Amino acid sequence: MIPIKTPAEIATMRIGGQITAAVLGVMCSAAAEGVSTWDLDQICAIELAARGAKSACFGYSGKQCPFPAQICISINDEVVHGIPSKQKFLKAGDIVSFDLVASYDGLMTDSTRTVIVGQTSPEAEQLVRQTELALFAGIAKALDGGHIGDISFAIESHAKKFKLGIVRELVGHGIGRDMHEDPRIPNWGRRGQGPKLKAGMTLAIEPMLMLGSETLNFDNDGWTVRTADGKWAAHWEHTVLVTKNAPEILTVLKK
Ligand code: MF3
Ligand code: CO
Repeated sequence: MIPIKTPAEIATMRIGGQITAAVLGVMCSAAAEGVSTWDLDQICAIELAARGAKSACFGYSGKQCPFPAQICISINDEVVHGIPSKQKFLKAGDIVSFDLVASYDGLMTDSTRTVIVGQTSPEAEQLVRQTELALFAGIAKALDGGHIGDISFAIESHAKKFKLGIVRELVGHGIGRDMHEDPRIPNWGRRGQGPKLKAGMTLAIEPMLMLGSETLNFDNDGWTVRTADGKWAAHWEHTVLVTKNAPEILTVLKK
């Protein structure tokens, strides 16, 4: 069952989405050479609290242990769910993704951005940029009357155009009262397939793309997902409201 949000829930998610966007903006500006990911996590806690929101990542239950931080920070060959650490420092040329689910007044919004620390290789830069554009290609298909497969197909087509690998083990998802609601939103698929899209659905669309092979490894910390071949990955995500007209991106700053 795919939840359709009430006008009141949508109003709350609009506020929450602005908070998620603002906090991610701070995180991206703070991502500089020499900063530890633990320090970045502390900043995240402060910025969320200052806006009356909470991290839904913290304590989220995984296979082995609850997620121990406010935000997932994944560097280079880490694809998703990197755990902030006092031992991990950003270096020039790194690509760093910040994946944040903020909870505000009982509703969640989920967004991810990948930033480059200083300058990186042309190849890595293209990975970051085209993963973001794959996200926007998918969002453009989040239309009332369309299908989940339209979003999936648009993302897959964009990835293929730039010969980027697609993460198959993890997918986008509905979001709202729960972090992961129906439907699943794979980053590959066929037009016209899958559940039908309706105004009032809120979807976390999230391409995770890679420079190398699609095989992944799971670290024994219970969370970190990385590429098996060590090539780099990027991740971009927005929470989007399906409307009767154009999709509304809730996790982009509107002011
Ligand atoms: N944003 C991630 C997702 O969509 C979830 C991060 S939650 C955490 O699945 F618990 F892993 F932090
Ligand atoms: Co998500």
